[in-house]
Amino acid sequence: MSKQDVLGNKVWTVTIQPQGWTCEAQDELSLLEAALLEGIRIPNSCRNGTCRTCMCQMRAGEIRYQIDWPGLSLEEKQEGWILPCVAQACSDVVLDVPAAVKV
Ligand code: FES
Repeated sequence: MSKQDVLGNKVWTVTIQPQGWTCEAQDELSLLEAALLEGIRIPNSCRNGTCRTCMCQMRAGEIRYQIDWPGLSLEEKQEGWILPCVAQACSDVVLDVPAAVKV
């Protein structure tokens, strides 16, 4: 369930598994940006949806993409793979990112 920030924007909760860390994702931020702002480093490189360094599994939730053609195949999308550098939350989400670290 979303909350709202002081400007009335929706804020979603992102849970990083298996660590169990959480961060808040404002509506306009990518999931990667939201995690980085709260000191959670998800592996990343291009940050524009092409290199696939950030590719991870979404275990729960809904997202939308900031770009029309994120670098994932239809099969990968159906299997739950996402690119958090160009994905925005549409609900609370749970991501599986074993390589995430706190910085
Ligand atoms: S960082 Fe390159 S696709 Fe996400």
